[in-house]
Amino acid sequence: MRSHEGRVVLVSGAARGIGFAIAQGFAGAGAAVAILDLAEDAVIHAAGQIAAEGGTAFGIAGDVGDFAAMRAVVTEIEGALGPVDILVNNAGISPKHEGRRHEIWEMEPEEWRQVMEVNLTGCFNLARLVTPGMKQRGQGSIVNMASVAGKAYCDFVGVHYSTTKAGLIGFTRHLAGELGPYGITVNAIAPGRIDTPLMRGVASAVNDAIVEATPLRRLGQPQDVASAALFLTSAAAGFVTGQTLDVAGGWLMS
Ligand SMILES: NC(=O)c1ccc[n+]([C@@H]2O[C@H](COP(=O)([O-])OP(=O)(O)OC[C@H]3O[C@@H](n4cnc5c(N)ncnc54)[C@H](O)[C@@H]3O)[C@@H](O)[C@H]2O)c1
Repeated sequence: MRSHEGRVVLVSGAARGIGFAIAQGFAGAGAAVAILDLAEDAVIHAAGQIAAEGGTAFGIAGDVGDFAAMRAVVTEIEGALGPVDILVNNAGISPKHEGRRHEIWEMEPEEWRQVMEVNLTGCFNLARLVTPGMKQRGQGSIVNMASVAGKAYCDFVGVHYSTTKAGLIGFTRHLAGELGPYGITVNAIAPGRIDTPLMRGVASAVNDAIVEATPLRRLGQPQDVASAALFLTSAAAGFVTGQTLDVAGGWLMS
């Protein structure tokens, strides 16, 4: 039997990049996967690709920052696939302007607000909606996508981004404590530099310098992060909670 046979997994920001690799990984491990992302055509395309590979996937569009919309989305997913066993809070944004961050003195309050809403409030919204069912069933797992930028200074991301990723590490630790007594594990992943469309938003010299500073001397692949998400939600990690696992090739290790 495959490791996640029969489980229902909700992955946010799953139409591309790390989220898509995670959805593919779970589908390959036997789970039914809900692919949540902003655009209707993108989620249909991503779910179609997973179905073509023999997996079970349900695409649904919505903005994680919108609580009312997420309530409807979770209801629809549970109607289609059944109760959510695993939530992967992956959707995140890191605004750049011609390949560079805005420094704090030039950042618009609206941009700050938007990053908070997607990267932090979006994770609260989905966790808020799936935990009543998990608590009732006495089992569940949540994985939050943090970043090494939440633990160490990165000179190419904005202050809003690092703040949300540091916040997610605290969110993870807190929820692990609160939900542990109900059989629910909560962990975070802190990726280093992973080769995705988000990462290509900066000048290529930035990525070259990171490879140079990474002990394993390469960029991460989305599948490297997917493997960690599978592990953290598997029976093998049944006694692991409240942890943040770096998937960074040793870059910025602490
Ligand atoms: N790529 C990296 O180097 C890296 C490093 C550390 C952490 N991360 C984190 O990993 C996660 C995924 O990153 P990625 O590199 O795959 O990014 P990406 O930009 O390639 O993909 C992110 C996906 O999230 C979706 N999304 C954005 N806002 C949304 C919203 N409001 N509601 C629903 N979906 C939304 C996007 O449409 C996109 O499909 C993010 O949380 C990111 O911060 C990435």
